[in-house]
Amino acid sequence: MKHLLSAGDLTRDDAVLILDTASELATVTDRSVKKLPTLRGRTVVNLFFEDSTRTRISFEVAAKRLSADVINFAAKGSSVSKGESLKDTALTLEAIGADAVVIRHGSSGAPHRLARAGWIGGSVINAGDGTHEHPTQALLDAFTLRRHLCEGRGDLTGIRVTIVGDVLHSRVARSNVLLLRTLGAHVTVVAPPTLLPLGISAWPCDVTYDIDSALPEADAVMMLRVQGERMRAAYFPSANEYSRSYGLDAERLRAMRPDAIVMHPGPMNRGMEISADVADSDRSVIVEQVANGVSVRMAVLYLLLGGDMKGQG
Ligand code: CP
Repeated sequence: MKHLLSAGDLTRDDAVLILDTASELATVTDRSVKKLPTLRGRTVVNLFFEDSTRTRISFEVAAKRLSADVINFAAKGSSVSKGESLKDTALTLEAIGADAVVIRHGSSGAPHRLARAGWIGGSVINAGDGTHEHPTQALLDAFTLRRHLCEGRGDLTGIRVTIVGDVLHSRVARSNVLLLRTLGAHVTVVAPPTLLPLGISAWPCDVTYDIDSALPEADAVMMLRVQGERMRAAYFPSANEYSRSYGLDAERLRAMRPDAIVMHPGPMNRGMEISADVADSDRSVIVEQVANGVSVRMAVLYLLLGGDMKGQG
């Protein structure tokens, strides 16, 4: 595989290989010198047209831990603000010798355009495109689920995951549904009707409007951020009403299985889709998801750029 554009492009074997490689690379984080020579001399460009904290930083750390040279490009402050096109930006990156381009873009399909137009010779990794996909988020979520719920098993067969919230605007939900099903998990999506996309019935998951019937069945719940910045209309009466109907608070957490875990891709709207006490509780693995993102993104860069594991020492 040259590019990582969609979680749906991954076979079970591809996904398990990435998760197994991430498990091996996670041991680097425990060392005093957190660096491998694997991608020495390679150049990774982080091309971010949309804001990011977790994804941009963890791709940067991942590439640096593999000894790649890293260039961080944010649209704000670049010639994009003077009107430079995606094509001319890509040709510029090609001219400086990018081996991999990690792209986040507000338009769904921008990474696919970059990969298929022939402007870039290296690998393209989708770090979130519009409301479409965020495959490395799904991989780090699967890695986190596997660590907590699968006792070393390769895939997620039999695990029940409930995804709750603003599915309409969520690239995380789509990538997770695709990947979790590939790995054998059973997925239930919960949202008000206004926050479900057209065509949800074709997704490989169950769909319900009733959070309180779905939570007691779940081994893990993934709360989604309400994406106010993408909303052009009123999708629910008020923040309080949304929180009452679809928020995860301590009372709803008590209705879940005692060993069920709480996930959120971040950034969180504390007090809206998740209460602060649940986000900070010992059932929450939200901070661990961020840490796991580094190992998973190391694995993706390593596998796409054909790093040499023998050099690890
Ligand atoms: N989960 C996620 O993509 O977070 P950022 O927007 O901070 O990268």
